[in-house]
Amino acid sequence: MRDEDARSILIRNDRGGYTVPNGRVYPFQWNWDSAFVALGFTAFDLDRAWREIESLFEAQWPDGFVPHIVFWKDDPGYFPGPDRWDTKTRPLTSGITQPPVAATVVRDLWMQGGEQVRDRMAALFPKLMAWTRWFRTHRDFEGRGLVVALHPWETGRDNSPEWDEPGAAIDTSDVAPYQRRDTSHLDAAMRPTTAEYDRYVALVDYGRERGWDHARLARENPFRVADVGMTMILLRADRDLLALAEALGRDAEAEELRGYIARAEQGVDWLWNAEVGAYCSRDVLTGRSSGFVTSASFLGFYAGLSDPERDKAVLAALTRIGEAVRYLVPSLDPHDPGFQMIRYWRGPVWAVLNYMIGRGLEEAGQEGLARRVREDTRDLIRQSGFYEAFDPTTGAPTGGDDFSWTAAVWLCWAGR
Ligand code: GLC
Repeated sequence: MRDEDARSILIRNDRGGYTVPNGRVYPFQWNWDSAFVALGFTAFDLDRAWREIESLFEAQWPDGFVPHIVFWKDDPGYFPGPDRWDTKTRPLTSGITQPPVAATVVRDLWMQGGEQVRDRMAALFPKLMAWTRWFRTHRDFEGRGLVVALHPWETGRDNSPEWDEPGAAIDTSDVAPYQRRDTSHLDAAMRPTTAEYDRYVALVDYGRERGWDHARLARENPFRVADVGMTMILLRADRDLLALAEALGRDAEAEELRGYIARAEQGVDWLWNAEVGAYCSRDVLTGRSSGFVTSASFLGFYAGLSDPERDKAVLAALTRIGEAVRYLVPSLDPHDPGFQMIRYWRGPVWAVLNYMIGRGLEEAGQEGLARRVREDTRDLIRQSGFYEAFDPTTGAPTGGDDFSWTAAVWLCWAGR
């Protein structure tokens, strides 16, 4: 029954070539949601899976940037909509990006489709390559192979406490009045606060006033944080893109990617926080490590990193967290005083993070923890349904229902 329910969520949220994360709260195409959704479609419609990624890349900008939202059609149910972003592009999009999981997904689709889909893979390859170059051109910090986020929404983990201190530098005194839409759909206790929203909107205004000039924003933006999540995800994506380059005989690009990978493998040292024994995001403007252990801190295995000392510390942290809550992996360490069971990225479990963490653990041969993460994800969905996120202590649902990427994670991983 669950499989059928999951499939029908994807079909219902399909708007013809792209899928909305949730019909009411998120009525447009979102970047990394679409990538995960494509994995869900592989369970019953391979052609549709490719289409999801292809439609996302139809919104790519000439400089290689791939936006976090594509406004194919307007919808009053979400703020900030296309007017506030005012990117003047066709199609209209947002001006910020999101974690680059697409290359990893394309490799998976290709593995499943074989020779028959080689042309589709080859057509996407230069676009994926351009996006990676965009990150390396505009978002790398001192060429270290890290990813700098200019907006909390870029990290995909909107209100993680990692952004609290760096976010204090954002001037919100001038933000023109606006009306949030999310809190008319959902309980405000599950959502970011008003103060956080003011910062989100102030950064949108800041980018718009500078015409979304990526080079300039990279130099001047008041919020610049090396995000552990995006850094790990791009490192993984570059490894998968390298496999595609090799299969296509694209030697120059393969060499270029090997350079990016080598740099990132060194660069992550800057994110390692020996005091807490985990990878943590770090403010580029002040140099300070956040010190927060979040679910993104466990993406090192997914990124293909291996270091006996660090791995031991990370596995110990995950085990300790697993003893404190019934369901792994909470978005914030439950021992942290700021842990909140239902408030978005300050505690709840997210199926897509579990998918990446679980897959990484499995690849690293950490079978016990890999199984626990996968079974916890399965139990959460069985117990509560295809919600946006889940309370790690009780498994109760939080956020919106009928979420596309939760259904997708069920179909490609948790429910199998
Ligand atoms: C929220 C999430 C983000 C996701 C989006 C659409 O903003 O934090 O990760 O992409 O919703 O589901």
